[in-house]
Amino acid sequence: MARRSRQNFGLTLGFAAGALALFVLLLPGDEALHAHGPMNSGHDDIDCEYCHRPAPGTLRQQLQATVRSLLGMRRTVADFGLQQAGNRECLACHDFPEERHPVFRFFEPRFQKARDALHPESCVSCHQEHQGVRVTLGSIDYCRHCHEDTRLKNDPLDVSHVSLIEAKEWGSCLGCHDFHGNHLMTVREQLDEAIPPDQILEYFRGGPSPYSADRKFTARREPLR
Ligand code: HEC
Ligand code: HEC
Ligand code: HEC
Ligand code: HEC
Ligand code: HEC
Repeated sequence: MARRSRQNFGLTLGFAAGALALFVLLLPGDEALHAHGPMNSGHDDIDCEYCHRPAPGTLRQQLQATVRSLLGMRRTVADFGLQQAGNRECLACHDFPEERHPVFRFFEPRFQKARDALHPESCVSCHQEHQGVRVTLGSIDYCRHCHEDTRLKNDPLDVSHVSLIEAKEWGSCLGCHDFHGNHLMTVREQLDEAIPPDQILEYFRGGPSPYSADRKFTARREPLR
């Protein structure tokens, strides 16, 4: 008798968990409730599915994932029946013809060391999403991974690039150059006019652009398919 009621109890619990899972799964606007963190600069109105394509999984798999997340296990994109976002999704809205550092270049063998250190071949290495910021890199000196051999024929700077690089002044580079080359601006030539590091980091965190408010290209609001 006791065993029987325990079985019934188990069954009831199972049904309750199932119903709860289904309820959660079918909640309208459920996705927004579970957003992992504040969207990054400019992404407040971007649909989840523009970055995370629907996962191919069956309803049963998705239910199992929902139950797992209800049990307090770490939420992953798969729990929402969505796929991980990558370059393909970013580029569907941000593919600029004059990009100075296009990600695809960095799949070349000669960038292996930079890939190991930085993963410049992937947007998300520097722009993790759901952090409420613009750039998630914590430092501004990463140019060192690729520009040690940079030499200018006619260097216009008061302190030449060669001297800056020899002195390992890697924190200076973003003071005069933006990374993607998408800002409309004149590049400064005096080292003491370079943008100070704290202003650049403030921009990374979502603050105003120290380069210029005008850009050559703006993003699409809907992905090009
Ligand atoms: C559906 C289109 C769309 C997709 C997909 C998308 N973005 Fe955006 N993104 C925008 C729009 C629109 C803005 C705001 C307007 C602008 O900056 O041109 C923006 C802004 C940004 C900004 C801040 C720009 C600024 O100056 O404030 C960054 C950085 C960015 N996106 C990176 C990414 C990355 C990385 C991905 C891929 C994980 C991505 N975006 C996916 C449309 C998109
Ligand atoms: C190695 C690091 C790195 C990678 C990889 C990277 N970014 Fe950036 N991104 C930055 C930094 C640093 C800035 C701030 C300087 C600037 O505005 O250029 C920035 C700024 C931006 C901006 C705002 C300025 C603008 O040009 O409108 C957008 C949008 C953006 N990135 C999108 C992308 C996308 C899309 C990808 C992948 C195709 C990508 N980034 C890959 C480091 C990176
Ligand atoms: C602009 C692109 C973009 C949009 C829009 C977007 N995401 Fe994401 N999301 C990402 C990226 C990129 C990651 C991978 C985490 C990282 O940046 O390393 C991610 C990660 C996640 C994760 C996993 C968190 C983790 O740490 O494992 C969940 C869950 C998620 N997104 C849910 C959502 C939901 C729900 C929405 C809509 C409200 C949404 N995302 C909208 C780009 C996006
Ligand atoms: C992963 C490697 C890599 C990283 C990291 C990198 N660059 Fe570059 N950069 C390149 C390559 C490759 C070119 C193209 C020039 C060439 O072919 O030698 C380039 C070109 C440039 C140019 C000249 C663009 C033009 O239109 O002539 C500037 C300026 C520049 N980078 C600045 C920076 C700054 C500033 C940083 C750090 C914030 C940086 N780069 C980080 C690889 C990189
Ligand atoms: C005081 C401002 C300033 C600083 C600091 C600075 N640059 Fe430059 N850089 C310039 C100017 C000006 C040019 C020439 C005009 C142009 O290409 O926009 C230039 C040109 C370049 C070029 C293009 C070279 C070519 O082949 O034409 C690269 C690459 C570059 N800089 C990388 C860097 C790196 C890496 C750093 C950090 C070690 C750095 N710059 C620091 C102002 C600066």
